[in-house]
Order: sequence, then C-alpha cells, then structure tokens
Amino acid sequence: MYMVTGHDASSFRFCLNNGVSVPALGLGTYKLSRELAYAPVRAALDCGYRHIDTASYYENEEAVGRAVRESGVPRDDIFITSKVWNTEQGYDGALKAFERSLERLKLQYLDLYLVHWPVTGKRLDTYRALERLYLDGRVRAIGVSNFATRHLQELFGACQVVPAVDQVEMSPFLFQKDLLEHCQARGVLVTAFSPLARGKALGDPLLAELGRKHGRSPAQVILRWCLQKGMAAIPRSSQIDHIRENSMIFDISLDRDDMARLDKLHSGLRTTTDPETYE
Ligand SMILES: NC(=O)c1ccc[n+]([C@@H]2O[C@H](COP(=O)([O-])OP(=O)(O)OC[C@H]3O[C@@H](n4cnc5c(N)ncnc54)[C@H](OP(=O)(O)O)[C@@H]3O)[C@@H](O)[C@H]2O)c1
Repeated sequence: MYMVTGHDASSFRFCLNNGVSVPALGLGTYKLSRELAYAPVRAALDCGYRHIDTASYYENEEAVGRAVRESGVPRDDIFITSKVWNTEQGYDGALKAFERSLERLKLQYLDLYLVHWPVTGKRLDTYRALERLYLDGRVRAIGVSNFATRHLQELFGACQVVPAVDQVEMSPFLFQKDLLEHCQARGVLVTAFSPLARGKALGDPLLAELGRKHGRSPAQVILRWCLQKGMAAIPRSSQIDHIRENSMIFDISLDRDDMARLDKLHSGLRTTTDPETYE
C-alpha cells in the first residue's frame, strides 16, 4: 500500500490493494439523513473533497447522489462508498441491496461497497455477493466495516478477493493499534470512522497544545494524526466552516513526538457498538 501524496483533499490519496486510489479524506454522512446530506455533500465537493461515505442505513443515498450530480464534478473524479446493512445481509440480500443503493444514488457503479457489520452467520455469504459484484465490474473495490482481527482472519481463510478496506472506529481516543497493524501487514486500508469521536473529546488539552504549535484546530490535529498513521478518515460535518477546516490538513506535519503523545490519548472511548460483540 502506498500513498500518492498531493497537497489537497483530492490529490492526497492512498492506493488500495487492487491499484484503485482513494482520497485519504472523505466526508462522512451518518445522521445527515435524507435532505440533510445534500448541502454538506455539495459544500464538501466545492471545497475539493472527492470522497463521500454513505450507507443504505443512513437513508440519504438519494440526496447524496443528487448532490454529486448537481455539483458539476465529473462522476469519475469522486470516490463513493456505500454499505450493505445488517438486515440486508446474505448472498441474495446483498445483491439486491446493492441494486437498491445504486437506484437511490442514481449511479452506474460504486467505488467501494462494504459489509457494514460482521453479522454472525451471514457475513461470509454477504461478502461472497460483494465478490460477485466486484468480479462483474459493478464496483471498483470491496471491503468490510467493523471487522475485528478475528473476523478478518476468518474472511482471509474464505475469500477469493482480499478486502481492500476495513472501515472501523479509530481516533486517538480509540487507537486500535493491533488491528491497524494487522490490516497494514495484509494490505487492507483502514478507514477511520468517527475520527473526531463525535466531538466528545475535542476539548482535550493536548489537542489544544498541538493545535497552537501547528496553528491548527483540535479537529485538524486528529485528522492529520489519522493520515500520518496511514489511515483514510471520513469526518462528518453539517457546517461549511468545519467541512472546509477539516480539509486543511495537507500542509502540516506532526513530528514523531507529537504522534507518540497523541497515541497515548487512547482511553478506549467508543461512540458505537464494539464489533467484538459479533460472534
Ligand atoms: N461503518 C460504520 O459502522 C460507521 C459508524 C459510524 C460512522 N461512520 C462513518 O464515519 C463518519 C464520521 O463519523 P461520525 O459521524 O460518527 O462522527 P465524527 O466525524 O467523529 O464527528 C462528527 C461530529 O463532529 C463535529 N465536527 C466536525 N468537524 C468539526 C470541527 N472541525 N470542529 C468541531 N466539531 C466538528 C460535527 O459537528 P458539526 O456538524 O457541527 O460540524 C459532528 O457533531 C460518519 O458520518 C459515517 O459516514 C461509519
């Protein structure tokens, strides 16, 4: 896995294990349901973002698709991820869910399609459907989300197409170092979701200190930490100022000491379900 290091949100990219490149910074859209997603996606594309994260569960694929179409940015320049929800899982269910997502998005293809959660008894069949979609050329890359090391090991023993991505919760407050290293050793890109821990810890004094040192905000320090760890990051914001702010992270560099101190913020702060609860 290598980096194509440009200096903005569209050109600073990671290369997936199948050669497809993904902008390291994307816009998250969870909780921006229905029309709420339209303005942030338009704002993000205007600010230079070229990576949008959605899911059938977020109930905003129509608005995301419309924002993409009306942005004037060529479809092929944008990396769009969606995910198959838990109740849609299974081989046939996932194939149908994919078609429904494309219909709502009004797109011909997805850049990345993920198994949203490692649903017990269904995840391998679901992933087989994603392999079929990939081999049929319907999606440029496939992967998983919320897969812990144990789930990945099971998948590696069964898959035909190695997952390109594991999208998991990751922030300095939930630094899953072993999982990150496991993924990186196997060429799986980690995408950090809830990188800002949903704003719960942005007041941390170390973030303020490093923000002053680099002339940036606490959110920017965290997002830069993600990139320098070799992870993509998909912060969500509904505010244009935050969307722009979050994209101004390509002209600073945290030094080794900054990174080590940020690593130590790990406290296990989780904003969503622990994937280990899935047998
Ligand atoms: N695969 C999965 O299971 C999964 C689970 C959760 C999330 N995700 C994905 O990851 C994305 C991001 O995670 P998330 O939405 O849970 O949370 P997040 O990105 O960690 O945090 C979002 C919160 O941070 C605030 N914020 C954003 N930029 C800020 C800034 N510069 N300064 C201060 N506050 C800022 C936002 O408020 P404002 O709107 O006011 O800016 C919002 O309240 C999701 O939207 C979704 O696409 C995936």
